[in-house]
Amino acid sequence: MYTETVIQHFTNPHNSGVMENPDAVGVAGSPECGDTTTLYLKIKDGVITDAKFQTFGCAAAIASSSMFTDLLKGKTLAEALKITNMDVVKMLGGLPDAKIHCSVMAEESVKAAVDDYMTRQAKNI
Ligand code: FES
Repeated sequence: MYTETVIQHFTNPHNSGVMENPDAVGVAGSPECGDTTTLYLKIKDGVITDAKFQTFGCAAAIASSSMFTDLLKGKTLAEALKITNMDVVKMLGGLPDAKIHCSVMAEESVKAAVDDYMTRQAKNI
């Protein structure tokens, strides 16, 4: 059912946990199952220097957040927004059709985090 890459990211997730003093936080939920993910970013000069996540969800959701956070590091915010859940699904070697929505939650957490960052920046002006 799950690829070896999904199983590896689920059993040994990269970048899992809460971040101290993040520059941005994005929360997203899956209406299909009620699970949630929270993404934390450190951002310097418009570039994501660190990313961590906490996901309350299934193996597909945890593997998707793990892969997403790996990809986000070193990206500009504009580049980060271009990464789609299907890019991550491909890098995971695929997900069962019924589990694609779990990867959408990770993509939405990125968008929410960038929105949060923009709001924080606007307040600092
Ligand atoms: Fe809820 Fe996968 S079933 S995130």
